[in-house]
Amino acid sequence: MEIIIQPDPAAAAEIAARLIARLIREKPGAVLGLATGGTPLRLYCELVKMKLDWRKITTFNLDEYAGLPSQHPQSYHSFMREKFFRHINIAGNNTHIPNGMAKDIPAICERYEKKIRAAGGIDLQLLGIGTDGHIGFNEPSSSLASRTRIKTLTPRTRRDNARFFGGEKNVPHHAVTMGIGTILEARHCLLLAFGRKKARAIAAAAEGPVTARNPASVLQMHPKVTVCLDAAAASCLEMKKYYRWVYENKPDWQNI
Ligand code: F6R
Repeated sequence: MEIIIQPDPAAAAEIAARLIARLIREKPGAVLGLATGGTPLRLYCELVKMKLDWRKITTFNLDEYAGLPSQHPQSYHSFMREKFFRHINIAGNNTHIPNGMAKDIPAICERYEKKIRAAGGIDLQLLGIGTDGHIGFNEPSSSLASRTRIKTLTPRTRRDNARFFGGEKNVPHHAVTMGIGTILEARHCLLLAFGRKKARAIAAAAEGPVTARNPASVLQMHPKVTVCLDAAAASCLEMKKYYRWVYENKPDWQNI
């Protein structure tokens, strides 16, 4: 796990954007796993500014709320359309987001997994982290081998996301999410976290035991993970001095 600590979210998002841009230039037909929420917004703005060629890129989003129509302003379909897809030259049928309105959720989950496999697997999976350590909507106690399925959000996650819904009572209780096993199959995972409220979850994920109590901790088992943090999100890391030193003294051949 490479942990990159930057002074602020803008600098961390810029590094993440450079990493994605490099992949797109090297592999114009790459498959990206995308995330929503507050964290990736700066990264998406950076990527838009870079004017990359997205025509051959395929994307799979991590999750969608169950029971929200895709036109709902807080659906992740709307989020992706408004914040990212309409600003780049990606082909609409190359973008995939789970259908939270499907009648047969297990069937669409299985199809989602099949589509990821048919696309050749995910080259780079973008991740945020919940204050409880969730990745995608894999809440604490999720199976570390789980596949795409429906999950029940914890009260904490519903509270955290109430800001987008004008109150907790409007936040859906369920979401369709890629599983942890699905995420672990991505060839590279890029986790972003900003702000003091993510600091404990990040410390547990990077330096704590691998446990379903903090689903992001499973990334310790993945061979290629990059974590881009601002100083606040890194503040509880015991080894932060070491991570900073490693990044600042990277040999040229390793540089992003
Ligand atoms: C979103 C997702 C979630 C978020 C997490 C953090 O697609 O999968 O895991 O990344 O809830 O959300 P923010 O970025 O709003 O703090």
